[in-house]
Amino acid sequence: MPVNLHGRNVIALEDFAPSELRFLLALAKDLKAAKRGGFERKQLTGKTIALIFEKDSTRTRSGFEVAAYDQGAHVTYMGPSGSHIGQSETVKDTARVLGRMYDAIEFRGFAQADVEVLARHAGVPVYNGLTDESHPTQILADFMTMREFTHKHLSDIRFAFMGDGRNNMARSLAVGAAKLGMKLRIGAPAAVHPEPKFIDTIAAICGETGASVTFETDARAAVRHADFIYTDVWLSMGEDSARWGERIELLRPYQVNAALMAATGNPFTKFMHCLPSFHNAETKIGRDIEKRFGISAMEVTDEVFESASSIVFDQAENRMHSIKAILVATLG
Ligand code: CP
Ligand code: NVA
Repeated sequence: MPVNLHGRNVIALEDFAPSELRFLLALAKDLKAAKRGGFERKQLTGKTIALIFEKDSTRTRSGFEVAAYDQGAHVTYMGPSGSHIGQSETVKDTARVLGRMYDAIEFRGFAQADVEVLARHAGVPVYNGLTDESHPTQILADFMTMREFTHKHLSDIRFAFMGDGRNNMARSLAVGAAKLGMKLRIGAPAAVHPEPKFIDTIAAICGETGASVTFETDARAAVRHADFIYTDVWLSMGEDSARWGERIELLRPYQVNAALMAATGNPFTKFMHCLPSFHNAETKIGRDIEKRFGISAMEVTDEVFESASSIVFDQAENRMHSIKAILVATLG
């Protein structure tokens, strides 16, 4: 069956067949080549896209905006205080208003239920730009980047995610890896492993695809033979900043540092991060953490982040190309 994603929502990777995800990855690669080569063709001329952000963003916002402009579409950015959504107007009402004006809606927020309500009532494609539970558009950029840095097929790739094993990134990487037949070890303390229901869902997908997604508490065992080590912040947007102390204590053994990179036994292991990252004390939060806890880096050391193994900015660039693939496939 040929893949046709026209009119589809992108709110969770669970909704996609492996062939549909592979189609989006191939389209993203083609669109990147077309932009680089100067032969990109506009397929979204005259389309309008609403971008709702209840949480801040650098990459996702820019990715959607630039992808839309490149393709001839227009966007309206509504930031955390830029619309009535959630404050004085329900998500359902907002969906019905924006659905009459826009051809598609991107939403970044807290509850996964909110993006689902939007999708149910907008009547136009809705894209999840991150919720507390998932970050599906990031995963396409990540797998696209992996393909650029290895000769392996996706199903031969072995990677590790270190840190908060039940946050949006860990969950979406687990679903994506399971769908595409990859080998993923999530290295995290048991206290932050996902709930059994989620682990069962992942196991069921792995059963269909031949993927392997496992949860480890031993950081060194988790990264053994990994082609890529991925990490994310220890406290996600929207979590109570009073929890920094306990999270640092809990996740410090899972920090990606030179010793952990060496523990892969693979000199070619690449380092990945969705960003933003606390790899030094040069941000407001980073300075505050250094003052309070005496550490200048959290989930990854500056040494690894700035090393030749780090491919984090390739990932960041690929957010735009892969978001463009989603827009072209669903709206073009
Ligand atoms: N990775 C990511 O989603 O980055 P932003 O928060 O900057 O969008
Ligand atoms: N887990 C992070 C991901 C940021 C892209 C957060 O939700 O803040």
